[in-house]
Amino acid sequence: MAGSIDWGFWGEGPGTEALGEVSGKRVLDIGCGTGRYAAHLARAHGARVDAIDSSATQLRRARGQYGNTGGVSFVHGDAIEYARAGTPYDVVYSVHGLSYIDPDRALPAIRDALRTDGRLVFSVLHTNAEGVGPSASVRPRVEEVRLSGHAPLSVHVWVLSPSLWEELLIRHGFDIEGIEILAAPDAANPVRCQLVSGVRSRS
Ligand SMILES: C[S@@+](CC[C@H](N)C(=O)[O-])C[C@H]1O[C@@H](n2cnc3c(N)ncnc32)[C@H](O)[C@@H]1O
Repeated sequence: MAGSIDWGFWGEGPGTEALGEVSGKRVLDIGCGTGRYAAHLARAHGARVDAIDSSATQLRRARGQYGNTGGVSFVHGDAIEYARAGTPYDVVYSVHGLSYIDPDRALPAIRDALRTDGRLVFSVLHTNAEGVGPSASVRPRVEEVRLSGHAPLSVHVWVLSPSLWEELLIRHGFDIEGIEILAAPDAANPVRCQLVSGVRSRS
């Protein structure tokens, strides 16, 4: 189980506190992967977490490791379809899951899945391993994912500038709380991430 949420780099930068107080709150984890953060929030912070991932393999791992953890419910499926059908959450978060979903599809559904004043906090890629920075238009691009023991995998991801994320959030009914650029601890590593937080607006 994780000891804190790593939004960008292991042991660096803001951790679980970026979500605010989650004790007793309904929380949705979008793209939960192996479920380590969902289990951490339930066990160490008393949150009630629904954790969803569209990968059957990841969900199998999550259920295998944390399936008996009180306060966590793992769901296999598309997070946006799920968000559309659920009852309102206090907090929705995603650690590098929203990079894979069209923001014009994801953000309206997440907004509707949050109670008024509910928070959305997520991290996404900002600059890749080759030092290529974010795109200035809302289009996915191809990035290579390197997993140990596997050949590099080409995936479509939305790597957007902070001003585009801000524009998108406002357009889809959020007030911006902040966008922080997270740098790697190793100065030679060009990778940067963004930690974005917003609140469902009252209007
Ligand atoms: C980079 S991984 C991050 C996993 C986890 N949040 C972590 O930090 O360990 C992104 C995850 O998002 C999931 N994902 C991508 N699109 C999704 C969608 N539409 N609905 C649910 N999960 C999705 C992928 O299957 C993958 O497990």
